Amino acid sequence: MCGIVGYTGAQNAAPVLLEGLKKLEYRGYDSAGIAVMDQDRIEVSKVRGRIAALCEKTRDGASVPGCTGIGHTRWATHGAPTEENAHPHLSNDGRIAVVHNGIIENYIALREELLREGYHFLSETDTEVIVHLLEYYYRGNVRDALIKTANRLQGSYALGVICADEPGKVYAVREASPLILGIGLGEHFFASDVTALVSHTRSVIYLEDGEFAELSADSVRVFDCSGREIAKKTTRILWDVQAAEKGGYEHFMLKEIMEQPGAVKATIAPRIRDGKVLFAELEGLVPHLPSIRKIVITACGSAYYAGCAGKYALERLCRVPVGVELASELRYSDPLIDSGTLVIAISQSGETADTIAALRECRERGAATLAVVNVVGSSVASLADYTVYTWAGPEIAVATTKGYTTQVTVLYLLALFFAEHLYPDTFGLGRMAETVQTLPRRIQEAIDMNASIPALAAKYHRSPALFFIGRNTDYAAALEGALKMKEISYLHAEAYAAGELKHGTIALIGEHQPVIALCCNPAVMEKSLSNIVEVKSRGAEVLALTFRNNQKILSVADDLLFIPEVEALFSAAVEIVPLQLLAYHVARENGCDIDKPKNLAKSVTVE
Ligand code: F6R
Repeated sequence: MCGIVGYTGAQNAAPVLLEGLKKLEYRGYDSAGIAVMDQDRIEVSKVRGRIAALCEKTRDGASVPGCTGIGHTRWATHGAPTEENAHPHLSNDGRIAVVHNGIIENYIALREELLREGYHFLSETDTEVIVHLLEYYYRGNVRDALIKTANRLQGSYALGVICADEPGKVYAVREASPLILGIGLGEHFFASDVTALVSHTRSVIYLEDGEFAELSADSVRVFDCSGREIAKKTTRILWDVQAAEKGGYEHFMLKEIMEQPGAVKATIAPRIRDGKVLFAELEGLVPHLPSIRKIVITACGSAYYAGCAGKYALERLCRVPVGVELASELRYSDPLIDSGTLVIAISQSGETADTIAALRECRERGAATLAVVNVVGSSVASLADYTVYTWAGPEIAVATTKGYTTQVTVLYLLALFFAEHLYPDTFGLGRMAETVQTLPRRIQEAIDMNASIPALAAKYHRSPALFFIGRNTDYAAALEGALKMKEISYLHAEAYAAGELKHGTIALIGEHQPVIALCCNPAVMEKSLSNIVEVKSRGAEVLALTFRNNQKILSVADDLLFIPEVEALFSAAVEIVPLQLLAYHVARENGCDIDKPKNLAKSVTVE
């Protein structure tokens, strides 16, 4: 759960590393460090805290001269966030430095072995075994030592390594953690994410599991785990550099909320032609669709809630039972999954450890697997039989927004695509595809029609608790709305299926208790109205989310959020937008660190 960067070239390495680490801070931000090689000496500088503290300590890199180096931003897993536990870690002889993203599962056994060999440990991290193993195996050739070391490691790792005996060289190793090489002119880079590279180069190489690279100023060589050199394809990054920056917004989260019309459009546009949904990447799956007896969606957090929202469209249109399972639960539940199951794993980052493990479990049980992923070349994408990318672009804020809406949109498209193949004569599929095509416009309208949100946030931001209620598709959107509120504003927020209130939760509703009632599904509107009346008669203040012309709801609610009218089956992708904005403004009122909420990280690579 960390970010790593590396550089070799003609520039001073430290400022380049620090700039890259700032872009990766979303992956973890409790401590940071760099190691820079000057001639044949390695100098390490580390801090507890954020990259800004490292910049201060190194005078923006000026105090650590040298043109080759590696850097790390950490989210603690093994050992507290202290300077000792921060990376890079040094070998006992001070000649090798390592940064690591991932977890070494067998580190305890390795540590004991290395202690017996006389190595001293300075940290509590799992990572430190790597650098001592490298020293142990090093006989004048880093490549050989890396291969021998990698053979001993179990778990996931992206590594950056420098060795004082090989000035100007940086090594990068990938096993089940993302790692990308950046190809410059007379300089080369590596990073956990392309956002750390795009200001230097748009030519990148995606390393695969089991591969490692040797970078110098003028060469890039990639090897497989046996040391055989392999040819790799260079990919061009087409994102606007601005896309990885804040673009004038106060926070990445707000920028990403505002980007949703464009992001959802990018998800849909290549996939609908003449009223039909097309997925070239799923051609191989089409012949198997009639034999699929059930669909299981698995994911974590917001991606799981995206699954909850998409389930309605999949079940309604495909007439196949759809289960939505938390990835962290599914893998331990001896799931009833077999070759008649299609498993859809959803993940923005594609690196969520629980989702990866659930996907592996389902594959072993013979299921066909389909990944809905944003990050190209990520682990979830490479594990699944089929991958559909959400094309949301880089998402930097820890709290997902466009990641969620594009995931939900892909599920709508999949529902239509499967239905077109399973029941081509179904009436109205073309019209539904047209409705999905209008989602970008409706999301924009939902942004534009809620100018009162900052004022509502000012009214509600001190409430100790917020309840989100809704039925059916409204309930699915409420789940994600409540998660957004709690993770960035730190208010206690709970989503309830509105019909469940009277089975216990209504005991918590008293004078001035805010209840956010989602009322955008006509099939359950009367029932939702009754639930609003129930909570109002116990003193609740109701903030209703509905259509502008919904007179019944307008007349009972205290405050209002609006969306344009959208067919309920496809409305969660629009309903969530005012709730994201509400969470954002409540968090802003509360002075929270919106892009980096406490205790959270963007990419959850631990189970
Ligand atoms: C909430 C949030 C998390 C993620 C979850 C899964 O705003 O971002 O709940 O949705 O950690 O992450 P991915 O989609 O990367 O697998």
